[in-house]
Amino acid sequence: MECKYKYNEATVRFYDVVYEDFGHLKKGLEFYSQEIGKASGAVLEVGAGTGRILIPALRQGADIYGIDQSELMIEKLKGKLDPAEHKRISLQDARSFKLEKKFKLIISPFRVFQHLLTTEDQLLALCRIYDHLDAGGYFIFDLFRPGLIRLVNEVKDSLEFEGEYEKGKKLKRYYSVKPDYLNQVQNVEFRFVWDEDGEEKTSTYAFPMRYYFRFEVEHLIARSGFKLEHIYGDFEKHELNSKSNEFVIVCRK
Ligand SMILES: C[S@@+](CC[C@H](N)C(=O)[O-])C[C@H]1O[C@@H](n2cnc3c(N)ncnc32)[C@H](O)[C@@H]1O
Repeated sequence: MECKYKYNEATVRFYDVVYEDFGHLKKGLEFYSQEIGKASGAVLEVGAGTGRILIPALRQGADIYGIDQSELMIEKLKGKLDPAEHKRISLQDARSFKLEKKFKLIISPFRVFQHLLTTEDQLLALCRIYDHLDAGGYFIFDLFRPGLIRLVNEVKDSLEFEGEYEKGKKLKRYYSVKPDYLNQVQNVEFRFVWDEDGEEKTSTYAFPMRYYFRFEVEHLIARSGFKLEHIYGDFEKHELNSKSNEFVIVCRK
């Protein structure tokens, strides 16, 4: 099972700094925190990353678990947790994971499913998620809604983040995007530039991001056996409209 998401060191190292102030991610954190708060039992985060959602939930008393297929992300997440909580986290792929527990709620925040490039992989992951939910349990995830203008325009080395990763140490992230219409993929490249030990360092990380259209999502969910409860247009649960930037998808077993 090929995986194209072995995040490189710079991507993992600077993940929290870069995403700390991304506007829609803050809304996403509030939204998922509320959903976790409403769940009447164990919760699983598929693609838990560095714990952006999982750690605050755990602090609020949620019985939350996480899987991720990236060793570096898992290492970083575990580094933030009390060793007694490490049993909650495992290095597993969404397409093949197996846990002893079942969950009331499974979430996959911040475009994890856009890392699954083929319908086969998407259905494998949906099937593993379905099997790990209690009857009546919810699966909630999000994708970006593909804006047609953004899809056709290439982006070349655009400055997306400029700040400090530690006091007095500068970090910039540039991004480039090349569309691949046939495979419904945006080929993204991040270029990090930062100051360290009196030198300017750089690192690039390239990866494909699959985009989904609305009715494709509906068909996919139907094929997986889930009942599609709703697709919202943002994390404040506004209805989808032609200007929506997100698909926030709520499915029920
Ligand atoms: C953009 S990050 C989101 C992390 C976290 N959910 C958040 O909201 O910050 C995507 C995460 O999905 C993970 N991922 C990608 N493909 C995966 C797969 N097939 N199985 C499990 N995790 C995967 C990546 O390693 C990465 O940690």
